[in-house]
Amino acid sequence: MLQTKRAYTEKEINGLHLRIYASHQYLYSDAVKILFNHLSTSKNRNIGLATGATFEPFYAELVSQCKAMGKERLEVNTFNLDEYLGLSRDDPNTYATYMQRHLFSKIAVEGSFIPNSNAAYPEIEASFYENLIRSKGGIGLQYLGIGTNGHIGFNEPGTATDTITHTVELSESTISSNSIYFKTARMPHKAITMGIGTILSADKIVLIATGKSKSAAIMGSVMQDPSPDVPASALRMHGNATILIDAPAASSLRL
Ligand code: GLP
Repeated sequence: MLQTKRAYTEKEINGLHLRIYASHQYLYSDAVKILFNHLSTSKNRNIGLATGATFEPFYAELVSQCKAMGKERLEVNTFNLDEYLGLSRDDPNTYATYMQRHLFSKIAVEGSFIPNSNAAYPEIEASFYENLIRSKGGIGLQYLGIGTNGHIGFNEPGTATDTITHTVELSESTISSNSIYFKTARMPHKAITMGIGTILSADKIVLIATGKSKSAAIMGSVMQDPSPDVPASALRMHGNATILIDAPAASSLRL
């Protein structure tokens, strides 16, 4: 059993609960423990999930902790934050395929929801997804990554804090950061994302960031004046948001 008590430095800054880890093993182990703690203390079993390279070790750790407990199934409904538009659902580059590869092929869940990457009417799909989340009782625990430009989900700089699930044109910065993952198709320039308002409606939020490439986005989110220019800075108005980062991602913070 990992002893995680001294595995991180803890700070409360600008309404955010920040934990800085020396080791990824402890960071991801704690990130998964937060999920199990949530499930043991809250009736809301709707979990908002994120994707990207940052979350691959999270799902590996979640699967490993489930197996260690003899669990092959989690009694949760999962709602992914976002999805590219203009790809067939089984395209290897969709987040639906990512989720299948990293989690759902290994651990069963009660229900899993993700916007349709191949929706004929994307705006209708976005509004359907928002209504689906609400009709199921809202998100209990929302996980987030962060883009190098401070985006959360695909809420690019400039997005208002009260937006609900909507379609977006991806920024040059996001296209440049994420196109390295597209080996077999051109990266779409459009996506569907939960809005910042949708994200802020979750009972609890956990953002994970690792690596030096995220340090400026973390600095802007945590320490500079909150601004739509850094979408993750909106988390400061939530009241129950925890940020788990490693030392390189924390390296621009003046603590
Ligand atoms: C994408 C996703 C975000 C994610 C971000 C970071 O843009 N839409 O939800 O947080 O990538 O990804 P990575 O972890 O690969 O840096």
